[in-house]
Amino acid sequence: MEYNENKIYWDEFYRKEELYGPSSFCNLVKCSFGLEYLIIDIGCGTGRDSRAFLENKYEVRGIDSSEVVITKNNEYSLKQYSKEVYFSIDVSCVKDFSSLINSIKKIAEMQNKKILIYSRFFLHAINDDTERVFLDTLEVYLEKGDCIALEFRTIEDKQTTKIYDNHYRRYIDTNKFEQNLKKYNCFEVSFFQKGTGMSLYKTEDPYLARYFIDVR
Ligand SMILES: C[S@@+](CC[C@H](N)C(=O)[O-])C[C@H]1O[C@@H](n2cnc3c(N)ncnc32)[C@H](O)[C@@H]1O
Repeated sequence: MEYNENKIYWDEFYRKEELYGPSSFCNLVKCSFGLEYLIIDIGCGTGRDSRAFLENKYEVRGIDSSEVVITKNNEYSLKQYSKEVYFSIDVSCVKDFSSLINSIKKIAEMQNKKILIYSRFFLHAINDDTERVFLDTLEVYLEKGDCIALEFRTIEDKQTTKIYDNHYRRYIDTNKFEQNLKKYNCFEVSFFQKGTGMSLYKTEDPYLARYFIDVR
């Protein structure tokens, strides 16, 4: 499937699917980052991970381009926490993404919190151009002390068996990704892990990379 058909795919997917329960990456991040961070879950999907962060008393905002899933997520957050914490934004739109990150940053400042960008299984769901918008925008708005936590499928995952194999995926070469990161002076990798056995789902054992990136 081509990238421009992606949004239709995810809207249809979320009309039927209800994936809940935190990922193992979410559990790792919870152990590694405290409540001094406001977490922005980018490409949050059903909010399986952002719900777990909310339940653990983190300040959280979630972003996804699927209006279907964002509507469902806000029904939940309104009921549980009396506020809407999810936003339907296409990260490829520089203006929308910048403006949202900037407004969330103001909330973090008011609460004296740093920002943790959390993004699981999002980077491989977007194309190179959108990845550029994602990183360029974070470079502009993040500040020293903020962090980024990423989990995504790598090129080694191309051949593994998939449960859902009918949508756009960009398998990422971690060497190229790290070369690209070096173009941004402010990003420094503080943790890297790559391999299988990290996110088992039914018969799937995807080959993944995990990064924690400090902003300096
Ligand atoms: C593989 S899902 C990951 C969902 C969730 N993070 C998880 O781990 O279960 C990828 C998500 O990225 C969202 N997405 C794809 N392209 C996007 C874009 N350009 N802007 C915002 N969200 C996007 C999709 O709607 C989908 O919910």
